[in-house]
Amino acid sequence: MTIKNICCIGAGYVGGPTMAVIAQKCPEINVTVVDINEKRIAAWNDKDVENIPIYEPGLSKVVAEARDRNLFFSTDVDSAIYKADMIFISVNTPTKTYGIGKGMAADLKYIELCARQIARVSKDDKIVVEKSTLPVRTAEALKNILENTGNGVNFQILSNPEFLAEGTAVEDLLDPDRVLIGGDIDTKNGKEAVEALVDIYAHWVAKERILTTNVWSSELSKLTANAFLAQRVSSINAMSELCEKTGADVNEVAKAVGMDSRIGSKFLKSSVGFGGSCFQKDILNLVYIAKSFGLEEVADYWEQVITMNDHQKKRFAANIVKTLFNTVSGKKIAILGWAFKKDTNDTRESAAIYVSDYLLNEQADIVVYDPKVKEEQIYADLDYLNSRAEEENRRRVTVVNDVYKACDEAHAVAVLTEWDEFKELDWQKIYDHMLKPAFLFDGRRLLQKSAIEDIGFQFYAIGN
Ligand code: NAD
Ligand code: UDX
Repeated sequence: MTIKNICCIGAGYVGGPTMAVIAQKCPEINVTVVDINEKRIAAWNDKDVENIPIYEPGLSKVVAEARDRNLFFSTDVDSAIYKADMIFISVNTPTKTYGIGKGMAADLKYIELCARQIARVSKDDKIVVEKSTLPVRTAEALKNILENTGNGVNFQILSNPEFLAEGTAVEDLLDPDRVLIGGDIDTKNGKEAVEALVDIYAHWVAKERILTTNVWSSELSKLTANAFLAQRVSSINAMSELCEKTGADVNEVAKAVGMDSRIGSKFLKSSVGFGGSCFQKDILNLVYIAKSFGLEEVADYWEQVITMNDHQKKRFAANIVKTLFNTVSGKKIAILGWAFKKDTNDTRESAAIYVSDYLLNEQADIVVYDPKVKEEQIYADLDYLNSRAEEENRRRVTVVNDVYKACDEAHAVAVLTEWDEFKELDWQKIYDHMLKPAFLFDGRRLLQKSAIEDIGFQFYAIGN
């Protein structure tokens, strides 16, 4: 089975970069990425490739190479589905905000809408690939919709979860640890569909790294991988609090522990708490699935990862208040970094949002600087929490594009994203222009304690 036309529904952080790399590596395949968000598609098509809607190192170069050659962005979802041999579903699967499973289960309404649209439009056989992260056994529901509302067309459903991390998406896509493809490997048609997708990745990924499994293992592996990664961050963050009480240093502990080859050194960086669109959502989803099977202990076990993460964000903010003589009311606090990690403009679930919200509840005045996040996004993130009137958010929060201006006359500075540029700042200059005593809170263990303290800062670093 040779694939000539691919359609990807969803031009977001996963759909955009993933399809750009497939198009770059498979010039003989036409790849059309579609979305209902007209603004997003217009940005993907912007003449100046630096204006594409997602910031990822190296992405604009890949897009520039393939766009209008065999990579297209469009809002015409029907046409792209109609023409495609293979359709990736890469739409968002947020946590439900209503009804049964509210605050936990994945909201699959966008997935179902895609399935119904594919069923309605398709006139010939197609392979449908779940690229979104989905609860285990979602493929069953997809199959049911496709087979019962289609026009007698045959659909093969594959699960091909995406493991890219933001900020390193292009690197991760070009050189993945593994590619996982779940399919109906016990049937001839299922096997052929799996092979067709394997052939696409084999353009640039070594065959040993392409794993094929049954659909349910593939779906569950994605949730498991994210749960394990987040668990490591919560584990080291739990230790960071103990370090602060005992005089141990969390970086030293992480190094000593991580050198055990059974444990490994990655994902042991203590922080103000993990953010991003995936970890919390996927663990909550896992907890919900466990609960729905009556597995209370399994659910409780994984829920602790979230509890610990919430605690970490809160205690970081509470420590600022306590250190600033138990009140931040009317005090200016500079927040350096709003993105949930460096090298991305994504702010979903960023710790900065929750720390700022906490400080705003304590009536602080916040000034934010982030090299890639736009002012409108920062206000939207705060408004979304509904903690206070939108006007108050605009009154109490100022967004600036000069980091020194952000810190000018501040009582305290909090580093919340590990942007490389924060390491290179003229911290003496920042100190000179702050109110004294000048407090600096490092939520990322980015700065050198001795150098910062020599300048005169009262310095607090997580886990130290
Ligand atoms: P996103 O919100 O950035 O993008 C999703 C896009 O889908 C949006 O632009 C939205 O307009 C579009 N969309 C929704 N319904 C649509 C429809 N019916 N027709 C056309 N377009 C539609 O989300 P994302 O970060 O790209 O995540 C997508 C999926 O991938 C999620 O399931 C997520 O869990 C998973 N995932 C994300 C990451 C990540 O790092 N962001 C990594 C791995 C997996
Ligand atoms: C994650 C997974 O890594 C990726 O495989 C999956 O496809 C999507 O979810 P992402 O959320 O983009 O990727 O970034 P990641 O690098 O995992 O970081 C998530 C959060 O954890 C960030 O806020 C980051 O700062 C934090 N983190 C990560 C730590 O605090 N310490 C660490 O050691 C690692």
